[in-house]
Amino acid sequence: MKKNLLIGFIMLFATLFATSAVMAEMPGSDADALWRYISKTSPYQKWSFWPDHLGMQEGRAPHGPKHKVYVNAKALAAETPPLEYGSIQVKENFNMAGELKAITVMYKIKDYNPADGDWFWVKYSPDGKAAKAGKPAGCIGCHGTRAKNDFVIVHDFK
Ligand code: HEC
Repeated sequence: MKKNLLIGFIMLFATLFATSAVMAEMPGSDADALWRYISKTSPYQKWSFWPDHLGMQEGRAPHGPKHKVYVNAKALAAETPPLEYGSIQVKENFNMAGELKAITVMYKIKDYNPADGDWFWVKYSPDGKAAKAGKPAGCIGCHGTRAKNDFVIVHDFK
């Protein structure tokens, strides 16, 4: 009996420790740290798709003609906007031949930019070099037409 209680406590603390470690690992508004997070700590290819936007899809300018949008568990959990802090959307942009040309990311960070949904925006080359990062007027201007949907374009909240 006592042993079970002890094991229970150990498991509880292990869970709490693991949870806090995962949370502590979330990067700040830093494009290189975010790239490490989505490529190594929590590789985005293992995440999910929005249920209404599965796998390869056709896209519009300025992104490529084809794309995939991966979302992490926090983003996927959102039933109504806004998305939870810590939500990340990663969009792979391909040309017609199916070659990866750019990776565009939206990452929701508390108090980062309250006027425009607290999104941190980055456009990466396929090897993870940030071409644009932060609060680019272009990203915000265009996605801002969907501010009521928390700046998300490919998924409609019910
Ligand atoms: C002129 C309009 C426009 C601009 C500028 C723009 N986007 Fe988008 N974005 C779109 C459209 C339209 C989609 C829907 C998918 C598609 O058609 O490619 C989209 C989809 C996305 C997605 C998938 C999640 C979602 O919200 O649907 C991400 C991530 C994204 N864009 C990031 C960015 C980043 C980062 C920038 C700036 C570097 C940017 N976008 C600039 C129009 C734009």
